[in-house]
Amino acid sequence: MEQTLETLVENAMTIAEPWKKNGQVASYIPELSNADPKQLGISLMTKDGRLYSAGDSDYAFTIQSIVKCYFLLFALDKWGEDIVFSLVHMEPSGASFQSPAITPLPQIRPANPFINAGALVLCSLIASTYSLEEFVESLAQLISREDLPIDRAVYQSEYAHSQANRQSLNKLAELELLRADRETTLDFYIKSCAILMDTKDLARMAWAFKHHEAISPRHRLILESLMFTCGMYNGSGEYAVRVGIPSKSGVGGGLIALHDDYCFGLYAPALDPKGNSLAARKAMAFFSEELRLHVFDRTD
Ligand code: DON
Repeated sequence: MEQTLETLVENAMTIAEPWKKNGQVASYIPELSNADPKQLGISLMTKDGRLYSAGDSDYAFTIQSIVKCYFLLFALDKWGEDIVFSLVHMEPSGASFQSPAITPLPQIRPANPFINAGALVLCSLIASTYSLEEFVESLAQLISREDLPIDRAVYQSEYAHSQANRQSLNKLAELELLRADRETTLDFYIKSCAILMDTKDLARMAWAFKHHEAISPRHRLILESLMFTCGMYNGSGEYAVRVGIPSKSGVGGGLIALHDDYCFGLYAPALDPKGNSLAARKAMAFFSEELRLHVFDRTD
């Protein structure tokens, strides 16, 4: 079995490799455009904690929107489901992650916790009571890391190019959905997005989301449902068909995916037009088929 999973990860590398050249690294945050589109890292962690990695699995990159999973879990843990979903809906938006996607029914609020506006609202809730250090420490503890560094250059670059998020914050403030001031919220959000991890950390984080006892079963169910329906933004439908397990992408090129038996962390910074790592998607489609991971796979 050991040999088989090692080979499988190597085979996923081979399958994903040619797709790296078809994507584009993110450039709306100028510092991210320095990423090397030739990089590809894959890590897989089994339920019993064995880790298999290949490629650039020791290279640390900014996790970007993947941190939104932990905004959600942290907010659910500290404030509970009713308060969290009084601030954001739980609906796929069908829109890009940068779209404000503030939907009117039943009340005006962001469509889900993973589009930027929804994440900003939850970030403001967290920042109203906890420091960034407390939030990051809690995430580090969950994945058994002593600390988690923040990439200052990416942080500064995003901070200087955050017009879209500033516009969303203005709208959210108008709607009285923010629980901390705009500047504090933006700073907390951008620093959290600039947390550095490699694919081994991502696989450990995916494993922790799936199996760690610190996460309540109800909160895990909420997280996984929203990752499944909204985790890949306006690419969530196609990804659900082709891969079919809860996953979350970030514009840095990272991706996590959760399954009972296998959890994944991947990195390939060249993105598809919807902001998801192209090679990571292809690797996940391969794993899904080979390991029969799709949640609706009922064939014998
Ligand atoms: O708000 C932003 O633009 C980024 N810091 C995070 C966006 C992101 O990763 C979207 N994911 N695909």
